[in-house]
Amino acid sequence: MQNHDMDFTNPQQNINLTSQDFGTDFVFGVSTAAYQIEGAHAIHDKGASIWDYFTSKKGNILNNQHGQIACDFYNKFEEDILLMKSMNIKHFRFSLAWSRIMPNGTGTVSADGIYFYNRVINCCLKCGITPWVTLYHWDLPQALQEKGGWVNRAIMHWFEDYAKVCATHFGDRVKHWMVLNEPMVFTGAGYFLGVHAPGNKGLKNFLPAVHHAVMCQAIGGKVLRALVQNATIGTTFSCSQVTPFRNTPKDVLATKKADALLNRLFLEPSLGLGYPTKYVPVLKRIEAYVKSDDLENAVFDFDFIGVQNYTREVITHSYFVPYLKAKIVKASKRNVKTTLMDWEVYPPSIYNMIHKFNQYKGVKKVIITENGAAFTDELINGEVNDTERLEYIQSCLEQVHKAKSDGLNVEGYFAWTFTDNFEWAEGYHPRFGLVYTNFYTQQRIVKASGKWYKQFLGYNTIV
Ligand code: BGC
Repeated sequence: MQNHDMDFTNPQQNINLTSQDFGTDFVFGVSTAAYQIEGAHAIHDKGASIWDYFTSKKGNILNNQHGQIACDFYNKFEEDILLMKSMNIKHFRFSLAWSRIMPNGTGTVSADGIYFYNRVINCCLKCGITPWVTLYHWDLPQALQEKGGWVNRAIMHWFEDYAKVCATHFGDRVKHWMVLNEPMVFTGAGYFLGVHAPGNKGLKNFLPAVHHAVMCQAIGGKVLRALVQNATIGTTFSCSQVTPFRNTPKDVLATKKADALLNRLFLEPSLGLGYPTKYVPVLKRIEAYVKSDDLENAVFDFDFIGVQNYTREVITHSYFVPYLKAKIVKASKRNVKTTLMDWEVYPPSIYNMIHKFNQYKGVKKVIITENGAAFTDELINGEVNDTERLEYIQSCLEQVHKAKSDGLNVEGYFAWTFTDNFEWAEGYHPRFGLVYTNFYTQQRIVKASGKWYKQFLGYNTIV
C-alpha cells in the first residue's frame, strides 16, 4: 500500500456542481454524536459515561466545559430533525449513548433510553430522513471503565450484548449502521495520550484497547448481520493523507510509520491482513493480547467503510519520539491556511484517502461519514456568513466528485456537523456546524454554509 501523494491546486471559487452530478445512488447527509449534542446527562436512569466523568474533573477540558446540556438535542430533537428536513437533508448520522440504553453497560436495559431513541428514529422516518446509526462514538459507560474499559478483554462480551440490544430494538427501522467511530482517536487520545476520556496513558493501555476495539468492530458487524434484516453495515475510520516534510529517506520512513498508525491499524485486521507491524515494530507487542483465533475473528465483510477526513498531516523523523521516531509538523509551523483546530486546509487529502481505501480489495464501498471545518463564526444581525467553511466544504465536495469521476467507489458524503456542538477536549470553542447554536438560548441559526448545502441538495429533489 503506497501513500499516493498528488498535487492539486485548491480552487476556492464557488462550486459548479449540484448534488445530482454525484449520481442517484449517492447519499448526502449530516453527522453527529450523542455526547456532543444530547445533553440530559443524568435524566431518568441514564448511567454516567466516561465523558460525563472525564469532563467533571477540572483541567481536562478547555474552560472546564462539559456536555451536560450541549445542544439539548434530547429535548429539541424534533425541532432539529424538522430543521434538517427544511434544509433538504435526507440522511442523518447519529450515535447511541450506550449508558442511556444500558446504564451499567451490561445487564439492565433502560426503557427510557429505548423510548428516546425510538422517538428520534420515528421522527426521522416521518420526515423522510434515513437514520444512519453509530453504535459507539466514544461514550463508554463509566461502570465499564471501572472494570478497565477497552483494556479489559471482557469488553468483547459487553459490546456484543450492547450491540444485540440495539439491533433488537431498532433494527426493524434502522437499516444503516456503523459499528465504531474512529477507533484510532478513542484509543490514541483516550488510552495512550490521556487527552480524551478516560484519560489513560501508555502502551500498556493503548495496545490492549486497540486489539479489543479491532475485535469489537467485527463482533458488532456480526451481531448486526445476524439480527437486522437487509442491513447495510459499515464502520468508520479517521484518516489523513500523510506527506513527508522533506524528501529524505528518514522523513519518508517516518511518513510510512505515521501512515500505518493513522490510516491502516484498524482497517487491515478487519480485512484479514493483520496488524501493520512492518514500519512500527512496537506494534508487535500487541501479540501479548491476541488469542489464538482472534485474527480470524477480527475479519468482517463490511458493506462500506466510513472515511472521515479533515486535513492532511506532514511528517518528519524525530529521534525524541519514543517507539515511533516520527512526528507531525504542525500546520501553524508550515505557513499554510489552517482551521481553528490548527488543521491545514487541504481538500485534496479527501481525494487521496478515497483513492487509498479503494486500493484494498476487501473494501466494497467508501462513504465519507465525516468532513468539515471549524472557523471563527461571527453572528452579525442574526446571520452567520461563514465563507471559509462554505469554501472548505465546496472544495472537498469537488474532490469527492473528482474521485467519483475517476471511477473510484465513493457513494456518500456526510458533513460534520449539523449544529455547533461540544468539541471534546476543546469544549464549545471550535464551531463545526452548518447551523449556529446559541448555547445560552439553544436558538439555531442556519449559517451561509447551511443555506448553501440546502440549495445544493435541493437540486436532487427538483427534477
Ligand atoms: C470525530 C468528531 C469530532 C470531529 C471534529 C472526528 O474526529 O468523530 O466527534 O467532533 O472529528 O474534531
